[in-house]
Amino acid sequence: MSTSRENLNRTNALLSALDLKAPIIGAPLGGASEYELAAALSRCGCFGFIGTGGPSYTTQSWIEEQIELATSHGDIRRIGVGIGVSRLAKEDKLLQSIIAAKLAAVWLSFGDPSPYTMPLQNAGKLVFSQVNNLAEAELAIAAGVDVIVAQGLEAGGHTGDTNTVFSLVPMIRDCIDSLESPELPFLAAAGSIVDGRTMLAALTLGADAVVLGTRLALSPESVYKQRYQQAVLSTSDAGKGTMLSEYADRLRGKSHSHKGRCLTNELFNPNKLSGLTPDEISKSTETCLRAIENEEASKEVIWSGQGASTITEILPVATIIERTLTEVEQLKQSLS
Ligand SMILES: Cc1cc2nc3c(=O)[nH]c(=O)nc-3n(C[C@H](O)[C@H](O)[C@H](O)COP(=O)(O)O)c2cc1C
Repeated sequence: MSTSRENLNRTNALLSALDLKAPIIGAPLGGASEYELAAALSRCGCFGFIGTGGPSYTTQSWIEEQIELATSHGDIRRIGVGIGVSRLAKEDKLLQSIIAAKLAAVWLSFGDPSPYTMPLQNAGKLVFSQVNNLAEAELAIAAGVDVIVAQGLEAGGHTGDTNTVFSLVPMIRDCIDSLESPELPFLAAAGSIVDGRTMLAALTLGADAVVLGTRLALSPESVYKQRYQQAVLSTSDAGKGTMLSEYADRLRGKSHSHKGRCLTNELFNPNKLSGLTPDEISKSTETCLRAIENEEASKEVIWSGQGASTITEILPVATIIERTLTEVEQLKQSLS
């Protein structure tokens, strides 16, 4: 089992390998983390990722523009882009453009990172791979990725449906520690990490760094729609207030390899959605598509992690980072 000294050494190694001042990584958030958010994180000494998924299709030229804007407003050493592997498989030109871009890192989600790891690393990029179970972590280790992001089912957006952060992080930690290789990946934890106590808990479980998603979507630097931010803020018990389901995509006429965690509301309600007939599903789909057009948050898909319960205000990125780190230090002192 890792001692706290070993843990500290690993985090220090991560800070120096990733050129970070704090072990905090901003997740790629489709529809929320564009260049302003990624750049703001990089200026705070954290890693910031531009999200390329999202409500509308992001084109290659949009991605190229965002990367340029982020690097001109932030610190190029700490800016990356997040992308689903299925998209890279389909868009060879996009892969070439990402390889050519001045970017420190690429975060690969929802699939096997093996085909892309070496080409990206050869172009000087760090490769992050988001995983939801041990088998996926083993695949990412075999691919030689630099950072494994262990995403628990508490996370906002698309995620796995089997492991919580509490089960996933120690399991992958032990797996990495059991290997004898000088080139082992770092481990980051994602899912409901919103403040100092949740950050320290994740580090204690064996993560070398933490990922913030929903917490950062509720910042002025995020482009998450204001009505979405307000709906997340008003969630007091995310056990009931969010749901993990395939309906988040189905009712928007989309499909995805992973279920998605979104807020429950008038339409996205597990009690109402289970056991629907195909006819009822198409009616709900119509309602959802109309709600998106009419900007009716009560019937729209609003991605949110379970950490929403304890987020009470919209805060600038610098304040979120500073408060989180201060809380971690205070907690460490009170525990020692
Ligand atoms: C608004 C939002 C959008 C997201 N978009 C993406 C995405 O485009 N690609 C991706 O890999 N993960 C996405 N995620 C998941 C994040 O990468 C991350 O795993 C998650 O936010 C961590 O959990 P938390 O939200 O509880 O902090 C999204 C999450 C949210 C809340």
